[in-house]
Amino acid sequence: MICKNFKEKERMRKVGRSAAEVLDRLCELVKPGMSTWEIDEAGGEIMEELGVKSACKGYRSGHRIFPSHTCLSVNEEVVHGIGIKECILQEGDVLSVDVCVKQDGFIGDNCRTVPVGEVTAEVARLLRVTEQSLYLGLINALHKNRVGDISSGVQQHVRDQGFAIITNFVGHGVGRTLHEDPQIPNFGKAGTGPQLRKGMAICVEPMVNTKNPGIRMAKDGWTALAEDKLPSAHFEHTLLVDVGTPEIVTLPPGYHHATKFLKEKLEQLDLEVELDF
Ligand code: MF3
Ligand code: CO
Repeated sequence: MICKNFKEKERMRKVGRSAAEVLDRLCELVKPGMSTWEIDEAGGEIMEELGVKSACKGYRSGHRIFPSHTCLSVNEEVVHGIGIKECILQEGDVLSVDVCVKQDGFIGDNCRTVPVGEVTAEVARLLRVTEQSLYLGLINALHKNRVGDISSGVQQHVRDQGFAIITNFVGHGVGRTLHEDPQIPNFGKAGTGPQLRKGMAICVEPMVNTKNPGIRMAKDGWTALAEDKLPSAHFEHTLLVDVGTPEIVTLPPGYHHATKFLKEKLEQLDLEVELDF
């Protein structure tokens, strides 16, 4: 487990801002009639404009190489979907937009699931609960806490709300490579697991299915599908563990301060949690 020094933290902040900008601009584009291929192409163009590289394109898993700039997962696609021309977004769909970029040798990773036009109340609730669970997890990413404190924050909320947390994929450390130690599962007990230290860079990324947590792989070898064939949601931020407050580096434009961002988010999402920071 690597703790980042001053200079490395600066680079994490810089790449985090870029990753957030790409994600924000792509989410703005999501509309009925767009193909996922067009969104991915736009992702490649925005990355070029910002002078950053995709950390997804060329990513290796065994003998497979991920082909696109971003991961775009529609409806029951959970993660690692590939944008294609034939996939035209329809009113009522949901799209997970997962953006990982590399800049000055460091990686920032963030994801959001957005509605395409209007979605049903139950689908809207799925997105909301998943986003809430991200914040309920990451507010525990504090120096000397344990990984299980994050995991249980995520899991308890998802379980209380009657959705299914996915256990096949986990969050992760991040830095010069996309996936570093420690793993950050979205399930587990508070007070257990590796201890968090200030300066650790991690990605917290709850993935939530509507009914049951089962996953199967699509024929393309990358896309994970929800076995229940119902919509699935995924939200992710990259953050630096610190003493008083986690520092979210993938803040959307307009934010320089994670505490302000978190307070606003918790209020907007109707979450009543006492923050010590
Ligand atoms: N946010 C995803 C993850 O952490 C990004 C994967 S990139 C891919 O797993 F190339 F593996 F798809
Ligand atoms: Co990730």
